[in-house]
Amino acid sequence: MKPAQPSLWTTLFDAAASSQGLRERVCAALRQAMRSGTLAAGQRLPASRVLAQDLGVSRVTVEAAYAQLEAEGYVMRHTGRGSFVAELQAMPQTRATGRVPSTPAKPATPLALSRRGQMLVNTGGCMEPLQLQAFAAGSPDLRAFDHALWRQLSARLLRTQPQDLMRYGDPQGRQDLRQALTQYLTQSRAVACTAEQVLVLTSSQQALQLLATALLDPGQRVWVEDPGYRGARTAFEAAGATVVPMPVDAQGLVPDFTLEPPRLIYLTPSHQYPTGATLSLERRMALVDYAHQHGCWIVEDDYDSEFLYDARATPSLQGLDGGQRVIYVGTFSKTLFPSLRLAYAVLPPELVIPLVTARSVMDGHSAQWPQAVTAQFMEQGYFAAHLRHMRRLYRSRRDLLLQALAQHCPWAQPLPCNGGLQMVVLLPHGTEQKLTLTAAALGVATPRLGPLYAKPNAVDGWLLGFAALEPAEIERAAALLGKLRP
Ligand SMILES: Cc1ncc(COP(=O)(O)O)c(C=O)c1O
Repeated sequence: MKPAQPSLWTTLFDAAASSQGLRERVCAALRQAMRSGTLAAGQRLPASRVLAQDLGVSRVTVEAAYAQLEAEGYVMRHTGRGSFVAELQAMPQTRATGRVPSTPAKPATPLALSRRGQMLVNTGGCMEPLQLQAFAAGSPDLRAFDHALWRQLSARLLRTQPQDLMRYGDPQGRQDLRQALTQYLTQSRAVACTAEQVLVLTSSQQALQLLATALLDPGQRVWVEDPGYRGARTAFEAAGATVVPMPVDAQGLVPDFTLEPPRLIYLTPSHQYPTGATLSLERRMALVDYAHQHGCWIVEDDYDSEFLYDARATPSLQGLDGGQRVIYVGTFSKTLFPSLRLAYAVLPPELVIPLVTARSVMDGHSAQWPQAVTAQFMEQGYFAAHLRHMRRLYRSRRDLLLQALAQHCPWAQPLPCNGGLQMVVLLPHGTEQKLTLTAAALGVATPRLGPLYAKPNAVDGWLLGFAALEPAEIERAAALLGKLRP
């Protein structure tokens, strides 16, 4: 007899297409739990006898499903000890929080990777969600983007300068875009720079990878925020660096100056990822002093300071330092659209030639046409207008999500959310995995907060993306979450 209260497994099992065979439905339920990151790496799966009873299927069916998942690389089976979720490294993960739905291919013969290659693979990779879904995190609203204007600018440029846009380009980036960025960054973010210090890249991720490769030797220490951005951690780990997590409180990163000095400090001072804290002025000054004293680099990832709703963003850390030890990184992934593949770093003068050279080795340069369109978009005032519009839109969605959560999910406690595209909510202790799994079965993505912490199970919570969602989508998904019982 099935239990009166459906278990996580029965919920997922029932959600799997009933046209599939029983074994495939068991597989689908387990894969779904692992892909969403709800079942953590190394976690033990239920004993086949228990799961069979729970689902009302035969034990042979469950054994067959476990064997199938083992063949796909999702599960490791140890005779006498049970079946376990394969290590994270085996599967690609989202940069933000968890895994992405793709099955790792098992090589027919062992790969002879270099040590560097192995380190890259061991990070587990990183990827953003590919589909729009409530409440997947990290995407701006692409439906509200002015596509007609972008099309117009693109067409005009291609008509007037076709050959220029099709040639090889400067590894540092187009002069017009660097100039437009310099104007924007000096005025809006108090960044201290000239266009000669701006390096146009494909993504913040590329900036982090480039900095990690060019500035870090294996074993050198890097301080990162805990909780913090996985994309950064991945880039530093891939370079063989020793990543040292630093706690975060309501005033941002809490530096421990009694530790051995690191080579590099990575942080998100304007709007800490994911908590949203702003680094206090006192800590900003202390960090800059410390970096000068010990010769370390600070990487300031200013990924979404354009979207602060209740107050203006604090001026950049780079400006406070005069751009000597602080490397400023920004991206168009959130302000315009992610597939534009344009981001930028503002470099201290002595790093410009080495890093532009290193970049030319990596991928040559960023595509010319999108750079030219972006430069015009900025020069002609459309960028500022777009940001104003999106800020208003996102603010209203943040407010709506807060209301909807209070109404439907009083057990989810939002942290103060003064900006950004997503919101942290804390969950009752020990419920993150279970609630995430059940939400997934209802079709709602609730990216987990836990994996952003260095210590597993340190905190239970979600990071809910709201910016890309229409009001009705927010309402509907929050109402669905309201069905969950923590
Ligand atoms: C802290 C942080 N930095 C950078 C990025 C993304 O940058 P890009 O798409 O340019 O790699 C993200 C995206 O989620 C982020 O959260």
